[in-house]
Amino acid sequence: LPPPRSAILDRVHGCAGVLSLLTDTMDAAVMEAAGPQLRVISNLAVGVNNIDLAAAEARGVAVGHTPDVLTESTADLAFALLISAARRMGEATTAVKAGQWKTWDPLGFIGADLMGATLGVVGMGRIGRALARRCHGGWKMKVLYAGGRPAPGDGLNDAVSVDLETLLTQSDFVSVHVPLTPQTRHLFDAAAFARMKASAIFINTARGPIHDQKALHHALVSGEIAGAGLDVTDPEPMDAGDPLLTLDNCIVLPHIGSGTRSSRDAMSRIAAENLIAGVLGRPLPFSPL
Ligand code: GLV
Repeated sequence: LPPPRSAILDRVHGCAGVLSLLTDTMDAAVMEAAGPQLRVISNLAVGVNNIDLAAAEARGVAVGHTPDVLTESTADLAFALLISAARRMGEATTAVKAGQWKTWDPLGFIGADLMGATLGVVGMGRIGRALARRCHGGWKMKVLYAGGRPAPGDGLNDAVSVDLETLLTQSDFVSVHVPLTPQTRHLFDAAAFARMKASAIFINTARGPIHDQKALHHALVSGEIAGAGLDVTDPEPMDAGDPLLTLDNCIVLPHIGSGTRSSRDAMSRIAAENLIAGVLGRPLPFSPL
């Protein structure tokens, strides 16, 4: 389990380098507690919302992260959530386990088609592009995006840059791939869900607080949207009594986007290399600063 805050504040004292997980808050107080010899905070994640970057910069503390090596694994998981939510795999599997599979039912678990649907990518960065490549290349989806842009070689020449409102109103699947910042906190609020199609599916593999979870629950219960697939929640871990977990049309995974052997091995190696470089006062191989 993550160390309690008091243990972090105590144990960082005198350290030149800190290896942090995304569950560890690395703010100015932690940097103060470490002392002036602190040179580097190396995060075992690509996202760095748990680190106060401005405080690190002000103190000359280098920050490391682990981009690229988890792009394909996380895009795979976003796609897995997309197809699972579209084909209602979570509730179908629960029904089988509960002994409710009585016969082949012509109208049982009717879901949505992927082929030719419209994908809205909010944040066309590394992972957003990787998801769009899968959906466009494999499933011939029309791709809309807000923020970022595809790169040459993505095969996404037909992808259309639109404003968020257009993306929300026109997409069958909306997948979010922006970092968590004060600007993106609750980007998906009640108004955003209200704009989406009643048949739309919302996917979040980025960070939980990008969606307003109460508003998401309301949208799913009221039929404002058809379903959701979440690999991230707010808070994490999710409370077992969270009302979202009672809904058939919401699939929740425990933040496993980068959870493949090769991604986690590569992330670990990069985090170690960032840490060592920082302690030695060398430029970090991968830094968000
Ligand atoms: C995981 O969420 C990461 O940011 O690497």
